[in-house]
Parts: sequence; C-alpha cells; structure tokens
Amino acid sequence: MIPRILFAHLPTSIESMPRLTDFLGGPQLFVKRDDQTGLAFGGNKTRKLEFLVAEACEQGADMLISAGAIQSNHCRQTAAAAAKFGFDCILVLTGEIPKQATANLYLDELFGARIVNVSNRADRDRVLKETFDKAVGEGKKPYLVPYGGSSTTGALGYAFAMEEFIKQDVHADWIVFGTSSGGTHAGLVLGQRVFGFKGKILGISIDESEDWLKSNVSRLASETSGRLGNHIEFKPADVLANADYCKAGYGVLTDAEREAVRLFAKMEGLLLDPVYTGRAAAGLVDLIRKGFFIKDEKILFWHTGGQPALFAENYLNTI
Ligand SMILES: Cc1ncc(COP(=O)(O)O)c(C=O)c1O
Repeated sequence: MIPRILFAHLPTSIESMPRLTDFLGGPQLFVKRDDQTGLAFGGNKTRKLEFLVAEACEQGADMLISAGAIQSNHCRQTAAAAAKFGFDCILVLTGEIPKQATANLYLDELFGARIVNVSNRADRDRVLKETFDKAVGEGKKPYLVPYGGSSTTGALGYAFAMEEFIKQDVHADWIVFGTSSGGTHAGLVLGQRVFGFKGKILGISIDESEDWLKSNVSRLASETSGRLGNHIEFKPADVLANADYCKAGYGVLTDAEREAVRLFAKMEGLLLDPVYTGRAAAGLVDLIRKGFFIKDEKILFWHTGGQPALFAENYLNTI
C-alpha cells in the first residue's frame, strides 16, 4: 500500500465553459477545477501533498523543507500542509523579498514557515542542502519536499487524478494544462496508460523547453509507474508538450497572459493566475485561433490553481 493521507476536496468538479466556447467559435471547452482542491486556496499541489506528507509521516519527519520562487504556490501549500499536520517548515525562496509580504509569501508567513532567502537562483541547490543539513545538525528530522513536489511520490497524485477523471465519465479529446517541474504531467501521462484515457494530454510549458519536458516527464512517469508495480517504460515521444508560450521567461506577464486572465474572468467568472494557468490558457486560446483543434472536439482545461499570485505586488493592477 502506498501511504496517502486523504485531505484534498475530491473529486474536483468539471464545468462546461459555454460562453468562452462561443466567443472562440468552438471547440467545446470544459474546465476541471483543481483550483478547488482545498488546502490554502487549493491548486495542483494538494494532490501531490497527500502522498508527500504521508511519506514524511512514515519516515518519522518533524519538519518539511522545500524551495521555490518568492511567489511559489507549491511553497504556500507545503507550508499549509506543514501547519495542518504539525510539522515545522522551512522554505528556501529565490528572488527579492519585498518590504511588504503579499499573496503567497504573506500566506507562507501566516502558516508559520521560516523563510530562507536566496537572491541568486544559481545558489538555490546549495542553500537548500545547507538548510537541510543545518536542520539535521540541530536534531530535526526534515523531509525534503522536492521542487514543485515533483518526485515519484508527488506524481502519484496526478496518476490517481486521472483515475478520478475517468470515473467522472466526461468525454475529452484533449486535456490541456500548464506544466513546469513535470510532476502533474508525468502523473497524468502515467494515469492515462494505467486507467485507459483515450484522449491526448498536452502540457503548455510555463518555463521549460519541449526537449526538457519530454525527457523529464517520460523518465518521471516511468519511475512513478514502478511505484505502482507496473513498470511501464515511457519514451520522450509519448509526452506532448508545447513550449511556444514561455519565451518571455518565468513569471513575466505579456499581453497573451493578460488577455487569457481577462477572458476567463469576463466570460466564465473564473480566476486564473498570472504565472501558470494564465500562460497555459493563453496557449490554449492561441491554439484554438490557429485551428489546431478540430471544431467539434472536446477540450478539458485542467485548472491547476495559483490564484493567490493575482494579489502579488508585482501583478496587482498590471492585468
Ligand atoms: C498553479 C500551478 N500550475 C501548474 C504548475 C506546474 O505543475 P508542475 O510543477 O507539476 O509541472 C504549478 C507549479 O508550481 C503551479 O503552481
């Protein structure tokens, strides 16, 4: 039995987006609301943390340590999980700490996480290791939650999310979503094979190249498959990824993300975030306009959360 603590609000609902579908002139658009998974405003990390926190408990850990950007959604949800299950928490955050903590950073502090700041991303791995070793030296038993929660343990969350989706019996020709550290992507690709999803799974890259995603997602899916005992070998060609929409760089807002955030808000009353789901939706909208999808296909946009970032000082009033 793979350890898992059930705390996510599952299954997440699937809603149609008729006004957005009409506005874009088809194909039929749906959204799976993983922005509503629970745990500190929800998002894709809740599913991963069900497995990661269970593993930390099994290993007798008393502290969660993780790392990410200043406005990391993953770190916000890790800090919330630490608070909920009584772990200490240290977050190694890269970037400039603003005078006034807003959005995810504000929430990290509210959950009682200790912040270690790294100004230069090149130093992040070293500082993370030093932080971990220091905690051990002080007698703590830290559990390292990997970047984005994207280990085999975290990816299991999205393998089972695919099982949940299939049970919901909503037909989709395509699943489209934002991909970055690859755990969500790997889990979905693995779940597709294990539970028999017949459509296609397309990750819109937030910050990584297509080659990186294809090789890392296929490797992680293969390794995660081992955890389920079925040892499926995935190849890079099994992974669909589009890296056309991340050229501006991580977290850099362009007119494309602005339009997508506004479209989803005005047409469907749905909130996207500026960094991940805004970029993924911008890719989806562009692909629809280019005629990438057949008109009567059904497209499921898998919403992965992230909305607190809308209130970060660098995005407020810029969308
Ligand atoms: C809102 C949101 N969507 C998508 C992703 C990407 O997920 P993954 O890291 O599993 O590729 C993240 C990662 O932090 C995220 O915060």
